[in-house]
Amino acid sequence: MSLLELDDVSVTYRIASGEVPAVRGVSLKLAAGAALGVAGESGSGKSTLAMSLLRLLPADARVTGKILLDGEDVLTMKWGRLRAVRWAEASIVFQGAQHGLNPVRRIGDQIAEPLLVHGLAKPEGARKRVAELLDQVGLPSWRARSYPHELSGGQRQRVMIAMALACEPRLIIADEPTTALDVMVQAQVLTLIKELVASQDISLIMISHDLSVLADVCGQLAVMYAGRIVENGPSHEVFHDARHPYSKALAAAFPTVGDPVSRMAPKGLGGDPPDPMRLPGGCSFHPRCPVAVEACPTLDVELWSAGAGRTAACVHVKEAS
Ligand SMILES: Nc1ncnc2c1ncn2[C@@H]1O[C@H](COP(=O)(O)OP(=O)(O)OP(=O)(O)O)[C@@H](O)[C@H]1O
Ligand code: SF4
Ligand SMILES: [Mg+2]
Repeated sequence: MSLLELDDVSVTYRIASGEVPAVRGVSLKLAAGAALGVAGESGSGKSTLAMSLLRLLPADARVTGKILLDGEDVLTMKWGRLRAVRWAEASIVFQGAQHGLNPVRRIGDQIAEPLLVHGLAKPEGARKRVAELLDQVGLPSWRARSYPHELSGGQRQRVMIAMALACEPRLIIADEPTTALDVMVQAQVLTLIKELVASQDISLIMISHDLSVLADVCGQLAVMYAGRIVENGPSHEVFHDARHPYSKALAAAFPTVGDPVSRMAPKGLGGDPPDPMRLPGGCSFHPRCPVAVEACPTLDVELWSAGAGRTAACVHVKEAS
């Protein structure tokens, strides 16, 4: 059985001017110990999908479908059970989370908090565990006494990872864990995440707009466009031989991990992502697609098989299969 299974998950935000379909019909499977990368431009629905996994979305978001964590549906869980699942079974490192640390509390107290709240340790045990966790993320134990402003951005991000690891979850969801960091520090934090996941048999969902980063860390890649998954498969195949024109453009935009030149001059992606309230009909990518054909604006798109363990939502894949 998969550790995590998403079946036809959709998320719609209700706002004053109407409904925003941020995630549309996402189905995915993640095996225990596996790492899945989710890529896509700004606004494609990555964070919305991540937050839905632990029901962390605001009240104006309506979620449908099934989110099975070890066979149990997160969407219908009672609150008490959900609280136990958060941190202890699955934890999230939020986008820009390093700025979310409490500025007036010492690092050690913040890392210890989930352990104490979940009754997994008494204060003395929690102190020892904090030292162990700091060591795991490459920080000296005396850092437990520091305040967030005394740490660099990379060190704060390491603290966030230590917090996510504290209760030994089986799944970590990392939403753009390195985006705010400079290239050298980004590489260090990515290496850390890779090593921790491999050595502790933790499953990982990592989110980024940068396909090269995800291909480096994750075995499987899902590419999102306008709330949908448009391609899914083994990461090296998706990165080096994408079947969907959008994934191809993303791969071309970020050819090398952490390459500052490719960041400043991304090539291959013309136009803007669509407004989710005014999505183009058929394949939503058609106004930007360099290989669109007459059928695309009215196409009933689905994820067609694109080889062993691969799917892609493009008419050209459908025709080739
Ligand atoms: N609370 C909200 N209310 C209404 N719309 C929202 C809300 N949060 C996100 N959205 C919309 O949902 C869509 C998906 O947003 P989301 O934050 O999931 O994208 P993302 O892929 O994580 O983008 P980024 O790469 O910029 O973080 C966007 O169109 C966004 O404007
Ligand atoms: S279905 Fe058409 S518009 Fe969509 S990606 Fe394929 S060729 Fe482009
Ligand atoms: Mg986001």
